[in-house]
Amino acid sequence: MGNLWVKKPLSTLLTESSDEKNALKRTLGRWNLVSLGIGAIIGAGIFVLTGQAAASYAGPAVVYSFVVAGIACAFAGLCYAEFASMIPIAGSAYTYSYATLGEFIAWIIGWDLILEYLFGASTVAVGWSGYVVSFFADLGIHIPPALSNAPISYDAATGAWSTTGALINFPAIFIIGIMTTLLVIGIRESANFNNLIVFIKVVVILLFIGFGAGHIVSANWEPFIPDNTGEFGHFGWSGIFRAAGVIFFAYIGFDAVSTAAQEAKNPQKDMPWGILGSLLVCTILYILVGLIMTGIVPFANLNDPAPVAVAVNTAGEGMAWLRLPIKIGAIAGLSSVILVMLMGQPRIFFAMSRDGLLPPAFGKVHSKYFTPYITTIVTGAVAAIIAGLFPIGILGELVSIGTLLAFALVCGGILVLRYKSPDIHRPFKTPFFPFVPILGVLSSLGVMATLPGDTWLRLIVWMAIGIVIYFLYGRKHSKISN
Ligand code: ALA
Repeated sequence: MGNLWVKKPLSTLLTESSDEKNALKRTLGRWNLVSLGIGAIIGAGIFVLTGQAAASYAGPAVVYSFVVAGIACAFAGLCYAEFASMIPIAGSAYTYSYATLGEFIAWIIGWDLILEYLFGASTVAVGWSGYVVSFFADLGIHIPPALSNAPISYDAATGAWSTTGALINFPAIFIIGIMTTLLVIGIRESANFNNLIVFIKVVVILLFIGFGAGHIVSANWEPFIPDNTGEFGHFGWSGIFRAAGVIFFAYIGFDAVSTAAQEAKNPQKDMPWGILGSLLVCTILYILVGLIMTGIVPFANLNDPAPVAVAVNTAGEGMAWLRLPIKIGAIAGLSSVILVMLMGQPRIFFAMSRDGLLPPAFGKVHSKYFTPYITTIVTGAVAAIIAGLFPIGILGELVSIGTLLAFALVCGGILVLRYKSPDIHRPFKTPFFPFVPILGVLSSLGVMATLPGDTWLRLIVWMAIGIVIYFLYGRKHSKISN
């Protein structure tokens, strides 16, 4: 029976990574990594969830929510950068923690990352579906609501589940099917393809900011922080924090840069650049989009799955030409986020299976396409079912809470390691130690605290299932501890 705290030796990790070296070329420079991060970050958060956050929780002060969430991410980003430069091999928080904090914590993080990647792909697919439906509607093609909405809905106020009358969210399933197929037949995410998509989505956002600035009605910003309604989280400062919990989703993805460590030319120097640079660019863009959106539209009208499109429509004829480009930018942008998430999840399963914590089938590589096809198909099938059935709000909150837990654990890991293993070579060190990791843990927990009790309950149930699986399977089959 394995030892819960056994660590995977760094030398084993490095040997495994050099085996894979034959397949992975070191082609990504600093700016490619920044672009990869932006590709993974900008998606449903800004294009879909911002509207709900402004309309229901923060009003124009959603701008402050972006600052709050951005600061929490910056602490976590610095800690991720330290890990990624210390262990510059393809991986994730799972791999880092296996080498440094032991098997049980690694399993906890790996299991938790399913919420970030697999459920994240489902969430963004639901956002994609919303934009595709509205894009086709502009062209006069109407996709029946029964085939493009979640059949299940949840009323957070009463805690009641109900059916919506819709059958299934077909477009959301469709996009996951397409991306899964691409990933099985081995489309390697080429940096050029990603750069093109990033270019399109950043240009669309810049056009929105640039042209939208001329359509701001300053009365829409007054008051900038609407008065609290008397209920915690509904406007006022508590609303700003509550909205930060919702739009935190918009920042998820910078950690995906770490999965490309083996394709980076100079990972030890450039990983921190990729992680922190992409985070900085997105924070600035988000703050500006939040300002413009709430400046054009009275915030109460922003409760729409396509808030950027609402702002363009509200601005009138002057911005009408942007309607189509915005939707195309959002659809392309969301596609790349789904692709990165559906690519990241099987890699984590693959690593867990190689270590014996998941069955060997998860580590199988296709004889012709050389892809981890079983995990990719399992991931795609589960993600598609979830995307087809559930509404975006519930999914987004679950992804956020799961990711925040991973951030808290990563920041905690950096703190522990500096004391326990002060001599490991760290090409990048988070500044202001120990404040950054401590504030990282606290701010992640703080943003988690703003999320509703039901979301906490789902997280606890999910983690409990993971712990049971570990004791029934992983602990007995671990190759490192047995
Ligand atoms: N940050 C990513 C998005 O907003 C997950 O879609």
